[in-house]
Amino acid sequence: MQRGVEIGRFITFEGGEGSGKSTQAGILANRLSRAGRPVFATREPGGSPAAEEIREALLSGQVKQFGPLAEAVMFSVARADHIDHAIKDSLQEGRWVVCDRFIDSTRAYQGVTAGVPRGVINALEELTVGALSPDLTFILDISAEEGLARAKERADGDELDRFESQELVMHERVRRAFLDIAEEEPGRVVVVDASQPEAMVAEDVWETVLHRLNP
Ligand code: TYD
Repeated sequence: MQRGVEIGRFITFEGGEGSGKSTQAGILANRLSRAGRPVFATREPGGSPAAEEIREALLSGQVKQFGPLAEAVMFSVARADHIDHAIKDSLQEGRWVVCDRFIDSTRAYQGVTAGVPRGVINALEELTVGALSPDLTFILDISAEEGLARAKERADGDELDRFESQELVMHERVRRAFLDIAEEEPGRVVVVDASQPEAMVAEDVWETVLHRLNP
C-alpha cells in the first residue's frame, strides 16, 4: 500500500478450501475493532455491489465455459471494482481492510493451477491492483486431505460449488502454489499452520499482526 497521511492497513487471507481462512479473517477483524481500530471486513470475489454480481457468475460456473483466461479476467474485473469502490476509500479513511482472498488466489487458481501464463497474471495484477499491494498476507496452510474433509463437513450434504468439487490433486497444487508465493515474498506473506485448533491459529495471526503492523 502506498503510504500517505491517514492511511489504513491492508491485510489479506489466503488458503485452500477448508483452511478456515474466512473464520480467521472474521476473528482478526473483531479483534482489531476491539483494539479500537476502524475495520472494513470484505471478501473476494465480491466486496462491492458490482463485484458481488460477478461473483454470482463466477461461482455458478457460468464463466467457466469461456476458459481460464476469461475467469482470470473476470476475477480481475471484479477486483478492480472492489478496489475502486470500497478498498481505496476505506484505506484513505484510515481503516484496516481485512480481505478474505485477493491477488494470490488468482495467481494460484487461474495462474498455476489452470495454466494462465504468469505474464498475463502479472499484467492483470498491474492493471487492477497497481501499487495497492497488501501490507500483510496470511496463507492458512492445511493438507489437501484435511482441507477437503473440512470443506465437505461444512457443506453438510449440500452440493459443493464448482470450486469445492475439485479433487485432492488440485488442492495439493493450490497449496503448493500458495507456499511458493510465500517463499517468493517473505516480506508480505506469512504462512500459518491451519491444522492447529482455531484459537491457536487466531493467536498466531494476532501475534504476527502485532509484530509486523503494530496496531
Ligand atoms: P468462496 O465460496 O468464497 O469460498 P472460499 O471459502 O474457498 O473462499 O469461493 C471462492 C472461490 O473462488 C474459491 O474456490 C477460490 C476461487 N477464486 C479464484 O479461483 N480466483 C480468485 O481470484 C479468487 C478471489 C477466488
